[in-house]
Amino acid sequence: MRNLAIDAERLWGEIMETAAIGGTPKGGVCRLTLTDLDRQVRDWFKARAEELGCRVTVDDMGAMFARREGTANVPPIAFGSHLDTQPTGGKFDGVLGVLAALETLRTLVEAGYETYAPIEVVNWTNEEGSRFAPAMVSSGVFAKVIEKDWAQSRQDRDGMTFAAALDAIGYRGKERCGEHPLSAFFELHIEQGPILEAEGKDIGVVTGVQAMRWYEVTIAGQDAHTGATPMHLRKNALLGAARMVDAVDAVGRMHPPGVATVGRIENRPNSPNVVPGEVFFMIDLRHPDGAALDEMEKGVRAALPEVCAPLGLTFTEQRIWEQPAVRFNADCVAAVRRAAELSGYSARDVVSGAGHDAAYISRVAPSAMIFIPCLGGISHNEAEFSSKEQCAKGAQVLLQAVLDCDRQLAERGGSGKDAR
Ligand code: GLV
Ligand code: MN
Ligand code: MN
Repeated sequence: MRNLAIDAERLWGEIMETAAIGGTPKGGVCRLTLTDLDRQVRDWFKARAEELGCRVTVDDMGAMFARREGTANVPPIAFGSHLDTQPTGGKFDGVLGVLAALETLRTLVEAGYETYAPIEVVNWTNEEGSRFAPAMVSSGVFAKVIEKDWAQSRQDRDGMTFAAALDAIGYRGKERCGEHPLSAFFELHIEQGPILEAEGKDIGVVTGVQAMRWYEVTIAGQDAHTGATPMHLRKNALLGAARMVDAVDAVGRMHPPGVATVGRIENRPNSPNVVPGEVFFMIDLRHPDGAALDEMEKGVRAALPEVCAPLGLTFTEQRIWEQPAVRFNADCVAAVRRAAELSGYSARDVVSGAGHDAAYISRVAPSAMIFIPCLGGISHNEAEFSSKEQCAKGAQVLLQAVLDCDRQLAERGGSGKDAR
C-alpha cells in the first residue's frame, strides 16, 4: 500500500479558519449548538465536503454525513465528532475530530485511493449539552438510547425548543435519525485531561468512557426584603444551593476517582436587595464504575433534605441523563493501537473522563477513539491548545486506523456487523 500522509499545514489552517466562526477575544470559540454561528460552520463543512465530491445528507436531529463511496455496497466506516462548542470553548474540542476526518478523506481523494467501504465524515449535533441538556443528544438518538421526541422538546434557558432551533437554522434533515447503519465509527479528540502530556505520550488509545449522570435541581424558599427580613426568618434558596455545591463537591472527594460538579446555577430573582427565593442548578456526577456512581447519587440525594429542611426550604430533583460506562470494540481499539505503532508514535491506553459521541455510537457500531495531548490538560476553556504537530499525529493515526478497518472489512467481504 502507498504510504499515505495527511497534510499537517492544511489541517491546522482549517482549525484556525473555523475558530474564527464564533471566535472570542480571548482566543477561544463560543459556538453554541443550533445557533446562527453553528449554521455558518455547518455550511462551511458542507461546502468543503462537496468540493471533495462527497454527498452530504442530514438527519432529523441535524447530524451531518459527508459520504465518499467505496467499491463495495456495505455500510460506511464513519469518523468525526462535533462542531458545537461550550460558551467559553476552545478551538479543538470536537472540531479536531471533524476536521481531521475531512483531511483524511481529502488525503484519500488526492491519492486516488479507493476504499472498500464507503467513508463518511460525521458532524453530530449538540455534543456539548450546554444550550440544550443533556449532552451527546443526536448520537444518543442515533443509538436509540434517547427518545427523539424528548430530545427535540428540550428547551434552552430562553424556552426555545431543540426542534425549533433546528428549523431556525435549516438543519432538520429528511433522513430519520438512526436509520443509517455504520460498519464502524472512529473519533479523534483532544484528551481534555493531563495524563498524555505528563507521560510524554503522543497518542491515547481510548479503551472506554466512564459513566456519567446529570440532575436538575430547584430549591425553593421565599423572596423577601434583604433590609427588613431578620436572619432567623429567612428562607434563602441561594444559601441552600451554596451548601449543596459544597455537599456535591464532598461526594466527589469521597469516591475517588469519581468527580462531582455543580456547573450551572441560576439565582432568582438575582437582585441585590432580595433574599433569593428560588435557585435552579445542575449536578454532573461521573465515575468509571457504575456501582460507585450509585453510591455518589445516594450521597447527593441524602444531602438535599439535610441541607434544605433546617433552612425552611423545599426542593425538586430529577435525573435527566444517564450514560453507563462504555468499553470500546476490541477490534477497533486494536486498529488504533496498530495505527499508532505503524506511525512510530508513543501511545498508552486511557479511559475517557469526558463524554463523547463515540460512547453512544459504540452501542450500534464497532467504535473506538484516539486522544492527543492538550496543553496542561486544559479544556472547556478558551486557552485549550494542542500543537499543529500533535493534531497531525492524531489525524495520521485516524487515517491508518480507518484504512486498517477497511482492509479487515474487505478481507471478510461482509458488512462488518459481525465485528461487534
Ligand atoms: C462533554 O463535553 C462532556 O463530557 O460533558
Ligand atoms: Mn468534545
Ligand atoms: Mn466538550
